[in-house]
Amino acid sequence: MANPPVPDLEFSQKYDEAHAKYYFDKHENEFWRKLSNWRDHQIARKALEIAGNPKSVLDAPCGTGRFWDALAEQPGRVIHASDYSQSMIDAGLKYRPAEISRRIQSSFQASAFSLPVADDFVECIFCIRFVHHLAKSEDRTTLLKEFHRVASDSVIISLWVDGNYKSWVRNRREKARDAHQYQNRLVIPARVIEREFADNGFRIEASLDFIKYYHMWRTYVLKKI
Ligand SMILES: C[S@@+](CC[C@H](N)C(=O)[O-])C[C@H]1O[C@@H](n2cnc3c(N)ncnc32)[C@H](O)[C@@H]1O
Repeated sequence: MANPPVPDLEFSQKYDEAHAKYYFDKHENEFWRKLSNWRDHQIARKALEIAGNPKSVLDAPCGTGRFWDALAEQPGRVIHASDYSQSMIDAGLKYRPAEISRRIQSSFQASAFSLPVADDFVECIFCIRFVHHLAKSEDRTTLLKEFHRVASDSVIISLWVDGNYKSWVRNRREKARDAHQYQNRLVIPARVIEREFADNGFRIEASLDFIKYYHMWRTYVLKKI
């Protein structure tokens, strides 16, 4: 069967060199971002442990390598990093401490929907803060199928889900807005994404909420069926 076309997303174009530096700085320097970065790291460590402390991980999209320190905490883990924006990868390699950057075995520019690597390339794909940009179910399906091909065992994936205070507030605000306006980020109902996981060959090992019943971020640990 022919492969589906690689989705071309409007938001993908904004991560140029200037934006990459801005993205790096905002998570390192602003107080609330630092706090949320700390909680994201706590969840990432837990998720990796639940996934079985994978020996090889592909961070996709890696952005500026926000999680390379957490990924590198396991000695001997092989870490690969990929992003649509070479500027984001370059900023990570340039600004992260050398002992962390050195742990990146390979980095490559690629669409997450079509990764230029062999089947079962790594044990685990680590995909943080990407899926909340995917409004179309067919794009999420393309992504999940590609992850199913490339990961031999597990996928760690975060997105915005409903069933919490923040999504309720956002939903009310969205209703007041022009329905045809381009949406850069969106909440995906938990029952919808969980159905899509199952339909694409994954079972949910765990789900970890940023702040249960309050925040929208949820990280799922998926295992291949
Ligand atoms: C919000 S950042 C998240 C990066 C990182 N995971 C983190 O949490 O810091 C989103 C990233 O997605 C990348 N991106 C956008 N479109 C993409 C695509 N089609 N394939 C792979 N990466 C993409 C951007 O370049 C950017 O680095």
